[in-house]
Amino acid sequence: MKMSTPQSVQKRYLLEPRRKVSGALTIPGDKSVSHRALMFGGIADGVTEITGFLDSEDCLATLKALQSLGVRIERPSAKHVIVHGVGANGLRGVDTPLDMGNAGTAMRLSMGLLAGQSFKSTLIGDSSLMRRPMERAAAPLRLMGARIQTQDGKPPVQIDGHHPLKAVTYALPIASAQVKSAILLATLKADGITRVTEPAPSRDHTERMLSAFGVKISREGSTVVLEGGQPLTGGPVQVPADFSSAAFFLVAGCLAAEEGLLLKNVGINPTRTGLLELLRMMGADIRISEKSGVGEPIADIEVRASRLRGITVPEALVPLAIDEFPIFFIAAAAAEGETIVTGAHELRVKESDRLAAMAEGLAVLGVEHQLLPDGLSIHGAGEWGGGIIDSHGDHRIAMSFAIASLRARTPIEILDVANVGTSFPEFVAIARAAGLQLID
Ligand code: S3P
Repeated sequence: MKMSTPQSVQKRYLLEPRRKVSGALTIPGDKSVSHRALMFGGIADGVTEITGFLDSEDCLATLKALQSLGVRIERPSAKHVIVHGVGANGLRGVDTPLDMGNAGTAMRLSMGLLAGQSFKSTLIGDSSLMRRPMERAAAPLRLMGARIQTQDGKPPVQIDGHHPLKAVTYALPIASAQVKSAILLATLKADGITRVTEPAPSRDHTERMLSAFGVKISREGSTVVLEGGQPLTGGPVQVPADFSSAAFFLVAGCLAAEEGLLLKNVGINPTRTGLLELLRMMGADIRISEKSGVGEPIADIEVRASRLRGITVPEALVPLAIDEFPIFFIAAAAAEGETIVTGAHELRVKESDRLAAMAEGLAVLGVEHQLLPDGLSIHGAGEWGGGIIDSHGDHRIAMSFAIASLRARTPIEILDVANVGTSFPEFVAIARAAGLQLID
């Protein structure tokens, strides 16, 4: 099976050491919310108008997949998308594989979306996505009656939609919003009532957006309850700025914003903001001004340079900060004393093995640390050296080490950074506006 074109491994960043960030930054739209707005809009009745859409490679993979499945999508501008929903039974099959690029969310949610359609689909991705585990979503969907094949647990994923689905009662073995969402999407085409129980809360954008689209969905403790067969009604979706992208500048502010750094209109859904709690436990000076948001809560966040202290991260907070650990490890490196993260095995199956990739990069900078099977312990160094860092093609590893230049004594060069465009295409411009000296 052919993989999508690999990203250029030649693209790199060079960062000269800098000690100051400041200003007011507008961070681009939320990736998780943008994917969902496209998919739910596609299978809704009526029109879904998305503002603040994240114009990134991951979200464009979802957008193109929906277009090939017969959904008409207009883009009056890069961040303004109008989806003409085809309704629950309106998607049309295609003979060619749907290419999800680097996007795990696009692939796993699509498995749920396509499991109950009356056609066959094949899902592929780039070399990173082709190595990622897909059985976690395939297994519960099979319990619902779906016919899904993976190759040794990985893509390509082949879905034969010609089989009726029934609701399922399922306890997720790991806290995963992608798997939860795949099950909920399949339930929309199933008979009966689905109950998905989470071992710990994971992001709840699917539940919030389904409810905004007129679907009755409820929560009983740690269980989400959804009755199958309900139609979706399209409507406006305002995408907040992505907390996971803001996270890089939150930490930059903790390291170097003597005069403060303001991040505007950031999504502060409590299932996403574990990093705020972790940084506050470390002694960070962060002020939140909540604003009125539709569907998702938003706020302006102001952060000032502060002396950070090492902490032991409570495992309960891990799923609430799952995408923020690469940049959290940079904060830990800047703190006084030891920071210990455990219970984070999931970091090994993200766009890269993020525990190994961060440990490797910290070693280059000379930050003392110990790689654990399910985490990392870091002895804060305050500042560090420079050197050449391999991002392993992982956007969040690349951006984390760019922020590390705020405490580096010599330049940092970061290799294989093209995938920053999967989540944060404006990173270079915003980093420069904040004060980093980044040459790309
Ligand atoms: C996401 C869920 C998380 C997260 C990913 C986006 C989502 O993955 O890491 O970046 O939008 O549902 P898991 O479900 O694998 O934890």
